[in-house]
Amino acid sequence: MDYLYEGLLRPLFFRKGFPFHGDVEKAHDASYLALRAFAAMRPLTALFQYFNMTARNVPAQKPIELFGLKFPNRVGLAAGYDKQARIWQAGGALGFGHVEVGTVTRHSQGGNEKPRIFRFPEAEAAVNSMGFPNDGAEEVARRLAAGPKKGARACPLGVNIGKSKLTLMENAVEDYLGSFRLLAPHADYVSINISCPNIPNLRELHERSRLVELLGAIQSENRSLAEKSGEKPLPLLLKISPDLTFPQIDDVLSVLEETQFAGIIATNTTTTRPLDLADAPEKGGLSGAPLMRRSLDVVRYIVRATDGKLPVIGCGGICSGEAADQFLAEGAALIQIYTGMVYRGPFFGRDLARAYAWNQTEWPGKIW
Ligand SMILES: Cc1cc2nc3c(=O)[nH]c(=O)nc-3n(C[C@H](O)[C@H](O)[C@H](O)COP(=O)(O)O)c2cc1C
Repeated sequence: MDYLYEGLLRPLFFRKGFPFHGDVEKAHDASYLALRAFAAMRPLTALFQYFNMTARNVPAQKPIELFGLKFPNRVGLAAGYDKQARIWQAGGALGFGHVEVGTVTRHSQGGNEKPRIFRFPEAEAAVNSMGFPNDGAEEVARRLAAGPKKGARACPLGVNIGKSKLTLMENAVEDYLGSFRLLAPHADYVSINISCPNIPNLRELHERSRLVELLGAIQSENRSLAEKSGEKPLPLLLKISPDLTFPQIDDVLSVLEETQFAGIIATNTTTTRPLDLADAPEKGGLSGAPLMRRSLDVVRYIVRATDGKLPVIGCGGICSGEAADQFLAEGAALIQIYTGMVYRGPFFGRDLARAYAWNQTEWPGKIW
């Protein structure tokens, strides 16, 4: 399947003259539409799920229990691909161990001006300045409510929330809380995004006093919702920027401890550029292979600073099995991918999860 994608489909999609060539967002929308159609075909997804996750001669999935949730494997789909929560039900069929939808905001919004996604195939990189286009928390909550319920899902569902663009920074806490109230009842975990470089001033929320206020308010809302519903409070995660200094990361870690967050996602995209893309005029957050070194450094730093006690989801530039191995070897409990899937195809997550399981168990001899 991946030979089909990398050998045939990708060269076709990326070729000059192909309908979507030069309009990366249209190509993205087309792939999203195809996956949406796939996700809607229940018998087909059930079959794929069986072969990708549960068939007897598929190698062990290396499940892991974390935050009180069971993850069938360690590889998840990062936030940003399923912004509108329309394909998450197919996560298991694609072989993912979890899916994070969003970023969802309290109010629906169109995002930044187009063009806002750019590809750099030679560097296996992308730059985006999407600015959280999404239908808003109410509509997304309705969509999640229509899908499989908690406990009946092939893999855990994370919901990533961010600040609406129109909401002033001084009202950010109320804006996040509004999204949280609507979406938390449908999520297995919630991640708080303060690290997108494409929303003006958003990353100021990494600053200690603002972060205590924001995360403290979300955690107390989380606890009071749990009290009312009689369920356990949800695991809350924070998604951070790779562009923080180590002292800034120390501050963030102390806030996570104070507010009893369950884990951290490291990292989002970077505003820095590697040398070979230094002159690229495209504005936004860089993802893909050139981000990997920095994200890995951040993961390593967090694992050491917390003695491995705070679960870390490693994300950033995982475009190969070796990259995935390095994140896991540095102590990441789980990993997430996005840009790697663009270059390696829709089953890249499954392949990473399997390769990891193979490394950890005896080679089973055959895949199917
Ligand atoms: C087109 C695009 C859109 C993204 N949108 C979001 C988003 O809405 N929320 C978020 O938390 N991260 C978003 N991200 C960041 C990814 O989740 C991930 O943190 C980052 O791309 C690094 O991983 P990668 O190198 O595997 O892509 C986006 C990334 C890309 C490429």
